[in-house]
Amino acid sequence: MTPDEFRAAGSELIEWIAQYMETVEDHRIVPDVKPGEIIAGLPATAPEAPEPFSSIVGDLNDIIMPGVTHWQSPGWFAYFPANTSGPGILGDLVSSGLGQQGMLWATSPAATELEMVVVDWLVDLLGLPPAWRTTGPGGGVIQMSASDATHTALVVARHAKRAGIPSGDMVAYTSSQAHSSIEKGANVAGYGHVRLIAVDDDYAMSPAGLESALVADRAAGLTPAFVGSAVGTTGTTAVDPVRRIGEIARREGIWHHVDAAYAGTAMICEEFRHHQDGLEIVDSYTFNPHKWMFTNFDCNVFYVADREPLIDAMSITPPYLRNRASDSGDVIDYRDWHVPLGRRFRALKLWFVLRSYGAEGIRHHVREHVRLARLLESRVGADDRLEMVAPTPFALVSFRHRSGNDATLALAEAINRSGHSYVTPSQIDDVSFIRVSIGQTSTAERHVEQLWDLIATEARS
Ligand SMILES: Cc1ncc(COP(=O)(O)O)c(C=O)c1O
Repeated sequence: MTPDEFRAAGSELIEWIAQYMETVEDHRIVPDVKPGEIIAGLPATAPEAPEPFSSIVGDLNDIIMPGVTHWQSPGWFAYFPANTSGPGILGDLVSSGLGQQGMLWATSPAATELEMVVVDWLVDLLGLPPAWRTTGPGGGVIQMSASDATHTALVVARHAKRAGIPSGDMVAYTSSQAHSSIEKGANVAGYGHVRLIAVDDDYAMSPAGLESALVADRAAGLTPAFVGSAVGTTGTTAVDPVRRIGEIARREGIWHHVDAAYAGTAMICEEFRHHQDGLEIVDSYTFNPHKWMFTNFDCNVFYVADREPLIDAMSITPPYLRNRASDSGDVIDYRDWHVPLGRRFRALKLWFVLRSYGAEGIRHHVREHVRLARLLESRVGADDRLEMVAPTPFALVSFRHRSGNDATLALAEAINRSGHSYVTPSQIDDVSFIRVSIGQTSTAERHVEQLWDLIATEARS
């Protein structure tokens, strides 16, 4: 493809994406396809001869689009959002166009230094501890996912405890409501034990439960190494008592990691910051701009309070990666901050988003999503057939049908059958409930009203 051909095809595709944005609401959110249907529409072998771009776009429309789930629909209330924005998409496009490999400062100084700047900006914007700036002892790094960040934290915690202790004797703690990435990361990192600590009535981790598990494990000769707390659990956005867990972790000499994958974005508004009280005594923290901060997937930020143990655990330098800048010790080489060597220029899309929206713009949208969640919560609260199952600290509404699990699941199915709204049914213990997560870029009050009308009609008394 010559630059001229690229220009022509690229303009066409920008128009294609713009039209998708304009019409995404008209699509049925979840496609009506059976497993294997997309494969059946595609040739079994790759083409031998070059094909014209127009025929690729034709198949995109005819074969791929009918099998796409419309995460960007304003009626998307499932899981958590993975919201995008024009600036985010364009930043990603520039990143592809530049094709940088930012593993070392020397392999792309701008990729490294822009990343340092945006993660430092976020320290201020989210009210995070100033020591987490890259100019301090800590620092932030962008990677693919919160699961990667948590896995990295688990590896660093294990490494920091290593002296003669087999990893099979090490224990990781988190609440029964924590995201599965903590248990998965602990398994991958070779921890011998994961303890899921009990939660209180609001689904937040019990510090007393953590203390008794620590006592029992120490008595059994095991080595507590890691505790993960959540600011905004996946199930109900419960908030663990970060400061109290942090105090226990300090006393016990174990690594404390905070998972704010979804709710971290809310901290751009001061009124939510009490939920992260105690961060100045944690060891690491992660949040996903690719959930609620209008930055298209993938974009996770991982902070450490002290970067030395992280680099100590991750850095291995073969001769072909040595260079004068790294040897000088004056630069950050982000390859030493996570497992992969190669890295995309993800900071670009975040920079585009932060500058295009401004902090003000992001705050406006976050507050609007929270307002809409409270509106829905008030509707649920006023309906005798329904009840809330958890508080709404951010923009996730968790409710159930009072008639029980079958009625709740039937209601979720009816909502999802509508095609215009999509929610996630979930379960805690033996109680089924419906999660409505409000955070799509173009979700407005009318979409929440449309959802509510559906709920009110479909909830059988
Ligand atoms: C609290 C929490 N932590 C971690 C994750 C995993 O995020 P990722 O897909 O970036 O690994 C999620 C995903 O929803 C989450 O809600």
